[in-house]
Amino acid sequence: MCGIVGILGTKAVATDLVDALRRLEYRGYDSAGIATVENGHLERRRAEGKLRNLETRLLTEPLTGRTGIGHTRWATHGRPVERNAHPHMSDRVSVVHNGIIENYRDLKAELTARGHTFETDTDTEAVVHLVTDGMQQGLGPIEAVRAALGRLEGAFALGIIFAGHDDLMIAARQGSPLALGHGTGEMYLGSDAIALAPFTDTITYLEEGDWAVLRRTGAEIYDRAGARVERPLVKAVASALLVDKGNHRHFMAKEIHEQPEVISHTLANYLDMAAGTVNFPPLGIDLASVSRVTISACGTAYYAGLVGKYWIERIARIPVEIDTASEFRYREPPLSPGGLSLFVSQSGETADTLATLRYCKANGQRIASIVNVRTSTIARESHAVLPTLAGPEIGVASTKAFTCQLSVLACLAIALGRARGTIDAAQEAELVKALTEIPRLISTVLRNEDEYEKLAHELSKARDVLYLGRGTSYPLALEGALKLKEISYIHAEGYGAGELKHGPIALIDENVPVVVIAPEDELFEKTMSNMQEVAARGGQIILVSDAESSKVGCRLATHIRVPKAHPFATPLLYAVPIQLIAYHTAVFMGTDVDQPRNLAKSVTVE
Ligand code: F6R
Repeated sequence: MCGIVGILGTKAVATDLVDALRRLEYRGYDSAGIATVENGHLERRRAEGKLRNLETRLLTEPLTGRTGIGHTRWATHGRPVERNAHPHMSDRVSVVHNGIIENYRDLKAELTARGHTFETDTDTEAVVHLVTDGMQQGLGPIEAVRAALGRLEGAFALGIIFAGHDDLMIAARQGSPLALGHGTGEMYLGSDAIALAPFTDTITYLEEGDWAVLRRTGAEIYDRAGARVERPLVKAVASALLVDKGNHRHFMAKEIHEQPEVISHTLANYLDMAAGTVNFPPLGIDLASVSRVTISACGTAYYAGLVGKYWIERIARIPVEIDTASEFRYREPPLSPGGLSLFVSQSGETADTLATLRYCKANGQRIASIVNVRTSTIARESHAVLPTLAGPEIGVASTKAFTCQLSVLACLAIALGRARGTIDAAQEAELVKALTEIPRLISTVLRNEDEYEKLAHELSKARDVLYLGRGTSYPLALEGALKLKEISYIHAEGYGAGELKHGPIALIDENVPVVVIAPEDELFEKTMSNMQEVAARGGQIILVSDAESSKVGCRLATHIRVPKAHPFATPLLYAVPIQLIAYHTAVFMGTDVDQPRNLAKSVTVE
């Protein structure tokens, strides 16, 4: 979390730093700040809250330095107030940091005893004093940083500038991503290449443990052991047009509406639609011999993985173990050699997912990742990358990345089934056709947005909302509840419909809306029985289903009619109504849809 940028420019850099930070606000927006070298000394401006507050501040208190760093914060240590906003600094050094310095308490105690005064509640300030201390002992800036890095434990990406050094910036990466950008007589630093898109597309990605000395003429990169290393220059695919909402009010709306196109695009990468076959890239493992699959991910990506479990078990008859990455990594489950481990991540930078990937790799698993950002750390550390072609997802609540993850998982399940002979060519063709129809069916759903606006009025009055589903609709119930709570702040829970009677049914009364996700599949009647149990207790039922109302048998508060789809492909289709329910409720309630409170798009801390 947190986004960091740095520029060694040929003119004043404050405006460009803010521009770059705007592209990183998806990483956090609790506060923002920049620092520059002004006539040899360090100056900074910081502001609580969103970047626009910093911009306002800079109008009246501008900075003119040509060397600067910037930060947009997702608070971990210390409340999101200006005092804790980055950059942190002493009279000699200024630091921006993404990640967590785990041993900061020990460092703080040691440095306080040596006469340093700490002014913030952050872990980052320990870095400032550590480097300053080295310089006070007579070390030059580079040596002081080198010595400090050797003392830091945890995950970090750092950008550091120094008083009296107009042509020097130091970057360091351990566990958090960092990209260097090469301009003409200028150098850049960013948490990702997107931040640098307006300035350069020539990028060097630092590797784990690397640190770099930047000057306007280029960068010298060193590895963890201090040896000079060369890292390749790559052309970034990031486009300067990324932060454009088109005709939509929010990025989330734009991204929901892009789904027919990006799902088609993703499916086309894995299917031969004309031939009715899956065209899966080699994973470096014989699919026919896969006897066990492990899936690990976080949040929405985890729910995509959970749908994948149902599909792979049903179609390919392979047992799938799945867990949230934050649990998996410390559970350290035994893994038999030769298994396939799948990681699902939009950003490809989620710290828990990455840690789990490393655990599985160290335990002899073949690593395949389903990622949206192809240059991400998770992609780079995988044996095989299965890209989702969703394009940049800016809204913090994931929508199109989720359905593209489902698309890849569906294709993988079919590929595994064919390789193992659990489905034949005719069944493969049927499933491929089912997926191929989804973009068109989603377009139909997207033409009926009025009904969601009406529903939003009702849901906005609720204190709690329950989501129910069975089979592959169960993970969708979990995802529906997550979407609603993260952007509308209404408490919501998802349950397997059959689980309701084991406790949650106690919550039902006439004030509790219950969203029932029930495609007319083999489990439909079972879900209807559970819905009757809710109706009998006065719950307001919102049914999301392709079934005729006449088949329902109880009074519904709302029936969102979804077009008929093949039961295999329904998760892709039903994802869209649950996104629209959450979106319109949040819009009606006036929350910050694209940047909901307390969240960040890329979670690079544990
Ligand atoms: C919710 C959401 C999060 C992410 C989770 C994993 O809408 O977006 O739950 O799914 O933080 O992020 P990635 O996919 O980047 O690993």
